[in-house]
Amino acid sequence: MKNIYSNIYSLSKKMLKKTAKTLEEGNLVSLPTETVYGLAGNAYSKKALNSIYKLKKRPKKNPLIIHYYNLKNVDKDAVLNEKFYKLYKKFCPGPITFILKKKDKSKISSLATAKLNTVAIRFPSHKIIRSLLKIINFPLAMPSANHSSGLSPVNAFDVYDEFKKKISIIINGGQSKIGIESTVIDLSEHPRILRSGIISLSEIKKLIKIFPYKKQKKIKSPGMLTKHYSPGIPVILNKKPKNLSHAYMVFGGKFENKSNYFNLSKKGNLKEAASNLYKTMRKIKKKGFKKIFVSKIPNLGPGIAINDRLKRAAK
Ligand code: TXA
Ligand code: MG
Repeated sequence: MKNIYSNIYSLSKKMLKKTAKTLEEGNLVSLPTETVYGLAGNAYSKKALNSIYKLKKRPKKNPLIIHYYNLKNVDKDAVLNEKFYKLYKKFCPGPITFILKKKDKSKISSLATAKLNTVAIRFPSHKIIRSLLKIINFPLAMPSANHSSGLSPVNAFDVYDEFKKKISIIINGGQSKIGIESTVIDLSEHPRILRSGIISLSEIKKLIKIFPYKKQKKIKSPGMLTKHYSPGIPVILNKKPKNLSHAYMVFGGKFENKSNYFNLSKKGNLKEAASNLYKTMRKIKKKGFKKIFVSKIPNLGPGIAINDRLKRAAK
């Protein structure tokens, strides 16, 4: 039988070199991270950046996150401040993205930053992407590897489902442990959380003062406004389905095992629920259910990030 997944590879030494070369030439690859899988391109290459927007069908006004190995070279692109260093020390490498002022002399194309005067930077912890970032001499622009407004992929086969053979290399790094995207924090002015994630507001507040998120005249993060995280079928919150063709995504031990019930965490663990969220929604869609109903999920810690994604999916 023909292997349909012939563009999915595990990372050998040879493949590491080939992936680095592909990126150097301005072509795209998909890489695993601890949060979700990314669609990676050379942040210095206009060709790569244009391809990212085109492949994802992403509006050009929605900027990309730039990924680095460590602090070396970051200050060529971003103005680092004291609050950044505090959070970096505690959480990096890991699932947090910082919005900082962009340096005028940065080689990162304004295509990646949607002509804003800020840049989003992140230091992923997954060992595969780290081994790659370590050997290349440019940072990676990398949104989640899905079509704009859909669900982020959490394994190599999800990426394949999104783009089939349109990417020549998808590196298989197993299931993304965290399963939802990084926390995004704006440090370019008064610190604000722009996107919730597994690193929660309460953890961050222990280190720096955070201002409440407020609607501003100037849009801070274009990508947070639009419809997002949609599984492609209607999502209905805090309601039970009446019909077996509708799935029920539940949380906690009190639910029965029915054929249309999908439990995000029988133990009632919110971290586990976050890691199962996109995986479960993709599974439900694949099984042919017409709608997803969702039980109430506690709004604390990782629950805040889960409810944020679900609210947007239900829009
Ligand atoms: O976990 C993650 O962050 C994943 C992995 C692959 O690293 N990446 C990811 O990228 O979620 P993406 O493109 O799907 O989401 C990036 C978000 C968008 O909502 C975008 O609007 C925001 O970050 N963003 C990027 N640059 C920004 C900037 N300069 N100012 C404000 N928001 C920015
Ligand atoms: Mg995304």
